[in-house]
Amino acid sequence: GPAPLIDPFGRTIRYVRVSVTDRCDLRCLYCMAEHPAFLPKAEMLSLDELDRLCGAFIDLGCRTLRLTGGEPLVRKGFMDLVSSLSTRLRTGALEELTLTTNGTRLAQHADALAACGVRRINVSLDTLDADTYRRLTRGGDLNQVLAGLEAARSAGLAVKINVVALKNDNARELPDLIQWAHSLGMALTLIETMPMGEIEADRTDQFLSLADVRKDLARRWTLTPSAKRTAGPAQYVQVQETGGELGFITPLTHVFCEACNRVRVTCTGQLYLCLGQEDRADLRAILRANPGDDAPVRAAIRSAVDRKPKGHDFRIDRPGAPPASPRTMSATGG
Ligand code: GTP
Ligand code: 5AD
Ligand code: SF4
Repeated sequence: GPAPLIDPFGRTIRYVRVSVTDRCDLRCLYCMAEHPAFLPKAEMLSLDELDRLCGAFIDLGCRTLRLTGGEPLVRKGFMDLVSSLSTRLRTGALEELTLTTNGTRLAQHADALAACGVRRINVSLDTLDADTYRRLTRGGDLNQVLAGLEAARSAGLAVKINVVALKNDNARELPDLIQWAHSLGMALTLIETMPMGEIEADRTDQFLSLADVRKDLARRWTLTPSAKRTAGPAQYVQVQETGGELGFITPLTHVFCEACNRVRVTCTGQLYLCLGQEDRADLRAILRANPGDDAPVRAAIRSAVDRKPKGHDFRIDRPGAPPASPRTMSATGG
């Protein structure tokens, strides 16, 4: 096959994240405005284009494919895309097909996901308090997510819970969240808020250093380095008392870009070489100019990776507004 994708810093790109929609059925305070301006549908990649694009990355040696959003399960025809991509799992061209979801529609889709060869999923859930959940997500129903998690587990999907650490909204609840996830056999990852997109809420106030959180947790529990590794940026520890895995995603307090192995594509087909940098390649234009011919798409991906930057510029002294990136997390896919 073709040579692997290697960037100017010698990092091999084997992981691609693809946002399939900027839409979501929730409006998390740190992620979206209350009335977000969604992108026009015509700007969005079609399912067919998404399939071609993912295929091009796989042909270039990407072995982990994570579908994100927005909320991937609100995209019409999403399961058809998963089903089509699952053929790549069966041939071994792809090692891992997975998604990051808010869990609200998991109850309907968990079995079909498992049947397509999805083995693990990441579910975003920042609180176990129904009122806090409703406020944080601007209207979400916690019970829907809990039912979704139950369905995922009975479908045999491994689940990682993603928790964005928020000083005002869930800081005190973090130990309970961790204990809960571990008691159900789920890993949990804490995430520092990143300054992406315009929102009303002031993220500077909400920013919580995970270096501090980790120190607090280490007073309560015995944390030992874990062998757990995923394709993502989390550093894992084992909590001896719960027997579970706890991850830290710390773009602000500890830059993890050195080992970056990934790129991401927005729902409009823009390839970003780094979550926190603006350089991009318009893959949609190339897909649309070359129907039925993926060689130019592969060439464009390769030449973009040739200029992948060293790392992001999110800054700890300015963790909140104004956004370091005008792009929203939902369109970019994290
Ligand atoms: P696995 O480790 O494979 O489970 O996935 P993950 O935790 O990397 O993916 P997920 O979609 O659950 O994302 C969790 C958080 O990590 C999100 O807030 C992402 O935006 C963030 N993240 C993932 N990759 C990067 C990256 O390259 N840079 C930065 N700054 N954040 C990232
Ligand atoms: N900073 C950090 N994480 C974020 N997410 C959404 N917006 C932000 C942000 N500004 C998280 C979601 C989800 C993951 C894909 O990204 O909660 O778990
Ligand atoms: Fe939706 Fe996820 Fe953004 Fe919340 S963080 S509004 S669930 S895309």
